[in-house]
Amino acid sequence: MSSDITPKIDPTPDSEKQDLKDRINKAVTTQKRPTVTVLSSLLSIEDELGYIPDEAISIVAEYNNSTINEVWGVASFYPNFRFDPPSKNTVEVCWGPSCHLVGATDVIKAVLDELELDGEGDTIDKIATFKFNTCLGACPQAPVMSINHRMYGKISAKQAKSHILELRKNINGSDK
Ligand code: FES
Repeated sequence: MSSDITPKIDPTPDSEKQDLKDRINKAVTTQKRPTVTVLSSLLSIEDELGYIPDEAISIVAEYNNSTINEVWGVASFYPNFRFDPPSKNTVEVCWGPSCHLVGATDVIKAVLDELELDGEGDTIDKIATFKFNTCLGACPQAPVMSINHRMYGKISAKQAKSHILELRKNINGSDK
């Protein structure tokens, strides 16, 4: 039986790795939260990058005088942290009470159908990450969805679908 002894080549250039480390360090050292902890440091990194890269774990451990195991323990305990880069776009639909009462279910179904997803997650082509939101802070405009943090209120299922189609069209147009 043969085993693969081909060296694994990391395709990430050194400059990109350094840039990532710089962004992690900046996120950790410029936290706005009053008390700095392992959790607050991880939240700052998630805010900055949209995910927790492997490199962040040792940086957070060192900054908080903690251990890698402790940082992993905190990071893996919270289901909202993601450990791979998000898609190019974020689509959120609110399913909070105000939105639920006025048709969020239909909006969610239309968006999920259009993205070809069953629930939260990334589309296969990685053009969008879909998330539920418990309140997008615009209840009088319910039902509400957002694309890359731009809000769309009083939205119908049909309008939600056309926003996703528009998003796809813009991405395909900009890829050319
Ligand atoms: S409940 Fe949907 S925006 Fe507040």
